[in-house]
Amino acid sequence: WIAYAAAVVCGYLAGSIPFGLLITRAAGLGDIREIGSGNIGATNVLRTGRKDLALATLLLDSLKAGLIALAFTLWAGRDVGFIAGAMAFVGHCYPVWLGFRGGKGIATYAGLLPFTTLPGFFVAAPVWLVIFAATRVSSLAALSAAVLVPPGAFLLGERNKTVLVGLAILSLLVFWTHRANLSRLLKGTEPRFGAPKAKPE
Ligand code: G3P
Repeated sequence: WIAYAAAVVCGYLAGSIPFGLLITRAAGLGDIREIGSGNIGATNVLRTGRKDLALATLLLDSLKAGLIALAFTLWAGRDVGFIAGAMAFVGHCYPVWLGFRGGKGIATYAGLLPFTTLPGFFVAAPVWLVIFAATRVSSLAALSAAVLVPPGAFLLGERNKTVLVGLAILSLLVFWTHRANLSRLLKGTEPRFGAPKAKPE
């Protein structure tokens, strides 16, 4: 049980490092929580116009989940590794340092998949890319991938119960963290990337 407890604590602490906030602040862009959607993730960092910082945020947020999952997998097996990665998702969304108001978890979800369940990764990556390419809406790509990853991973051969139940829980949490996006999507007001700006009269 020591490995499980350590996975919960270390996963949460690794996940709670808000890279998007730290990177944009270091670059002198102010508080990312006052820009765009107010989210601390790579999608919102991209709205500052800095693709390099958005990419850095995506990689660091992904790796904090992926590497903690890998470390615990090597130490105590895949179940414990998945729990460490899943707790990084929780830490990212509810970081103690930011009054439990963090990000939406997509980069951390994406980061833990290749290190814990390749079937899950091989569903998530193409679904996100195809939906984003077709719609230019990051949240819609994320929600679509969240729906398809648990059943898709099973269909592609994933049979580990901790992983399958964990994926289902993470996907439900994605709907919770994206509830504001979901209501904008239903109203047709969710912003697209690359949409032409309205011309001034
Ligand atoms: O990964 C977060 C994305 O799905 C939505 O981000 O900033 O558009 O709310 P945002």
